Amino acid sequence: MNIDFIILAAGKGTRMGGDSPKVLASLAGKPMIQHLIDTVDSFPKSKTSIIVGYKSKEVESCVASSKKISFINQKKQLGTAHAVKQALPVLRKNSISVVLYGDAPLVAKSTLKKLIKPALKGNLSLLTFMKEDPTGYGRIIRGPKSSIQKITEHKDASALEREIKEVNSGVLAIKTDLLLKYIPKIKNNNVAKEYYLTDLVEISNQHAVNVTATICDSYEVGGANNKSELHDLERAYQKKLGQDLLKKGIAVADTSRIDVRGEIKVGQNSFIDINNVFEGYNVLGKNVHIGPNCFISNSTIKDNTTIYANTVIEDCIIGKDCALGPFTRIRGGTELSEGAELGNFVEANRSTIGKNSKAKHLTYLGDAELGSKTNIGAGTITCNYDGKNKHKTIIEDGTFIGSNSSLVAPLTLGKGSYTGAGSVITKNVPDGKLAVGRGKQVNLNKKK
Ligand code: UD1
Ligand code: CA
Repeated sequence: MNIDFIILAAGKGTRMGGDSPKVLASLAGKPMIQHLIDTVDSFPKSKTSIIVGYKSKEVESCVASSKKISFINQKKQLGTAHAVKQALPVLRKNSISVVLYGDAPLVAKSTLKKLIKPALKGNLSLLTFMKEDPTGYGRIIRGPKSSIQKITEHKDASALEREIKEVNSGVLAIKTDLLLKYIPKIKNNNVAKEYYLTDLVEISNQHAVNVTATICDSYEVGGANNKSELHDLERAYQKKLGQDLLKKGIAVADTSRIDVRGEIKVGQNSFIDINNVFEGYNVLGKNVHIGPNCFISNSTIKDNTTIYANTVIEDCIIGKDCALGPFTRIRGGTELSEGAELGNFVEANRSTIGKNSKAKHLTYLGDAELGSKTNIGAGTITCNYDGKNKHKTIIEDGTFIGSNSSLVAPLTLGKGSYTGAGSVITKNVPDGKLAVGRGKQVNLNKKK
């Protein structure tokens, strides 16, 4: 059966604060609504419509899908049923319609499949969950034999109804021909004067359509209306992600102190210490050890490499058996070959570090190409920028750079060459030569 997904995302989300549409609030590094799009994209023969309104262009430009999405404008936000009404003309008559709320982004594919099953049989199918403090949510009013009679919004609920802890998630599935018939029947005679999608329950009951619900984990369908709920959702998401890593055999020091804002792949026997933030798409090989307090973004770290504490890695590829940190910062597509080491307070930008090369202390490598087995002394600086342009420093195999050398680019240091400590090197150094570029020491008599 074809599935027509309708994602509601027209509201501003006043309770979330700020000027941005609520559905664009970031959860684990991507907009809440993007999580939903990624989930529904994997359903074959599905079509997705997103109801936009507040800052619609911003929503359209911030989301990406592998399929074509219809963005439908809801000019005035008159309620969730009014929002669904906007999508009715694009629905396929013999499909199942699935309504999702853009502010409840973590519903799993397997749960959606469970939701759809009863709808295939002609039921109105809902996802509900239990909430200790259900304030603000629609309450599930059950009657004889647990049948679902109606959903009462918090604002409209009696004191007794407000005691109910089973609440509506907003996610529902129903045959599209039924939705087409029932949505126009929904009125706005309630406290908020809004067209409530939740009235679909009573209308279904009036037409002898069964209403069934799957009670879900609040983590999946709870969603976020404000910063506090968004915080709780983020923490729950991160904790689950940490636990998923543990289940796969990857050691995580503390699942409440890891943040993956994007996607991460980790090989067996790797270890992730506390307070690490991973952003974008990161791949860690086998036996990788990440020390505490690192920030790692869009990078690959290959097998047996150790990253010591407080290291920052952005857009880099690090080979096998490397060591970085503590306090290293590398970025801009820097690549380290097997066995390379960068240590304390070393920064590398747009550079390549050859096999078994080392810069262990206090160094800046910008636009540098290091061959294999080079040794960069403490305090070495590549002077790559002349105020207008950036220039390359090429340091060939086996070169030994003395401590506190300034390498003024463009510059090539030939194979097996040396620089004396404290040198300012402005001219190329041929293979095997020792370059000394510093004032000669004079020992003067002290004045008496
Ligand atoms: C809604 C449900 C409530 C449920 C709760 C779960 C209704 C009437 N109430 O309440 O039963 O417990 O979600 O989170 O459905 N939207 C539009 N256009 C509109 C109104 C809303 O697109 O005219 C969108 C919003 O942008 C949001 C979603 O629909 O993404 C839900 O709207 P929201 O105002 O957050 O509904 P709740 O008050 O949370
Ligand atoms: Ca909501």
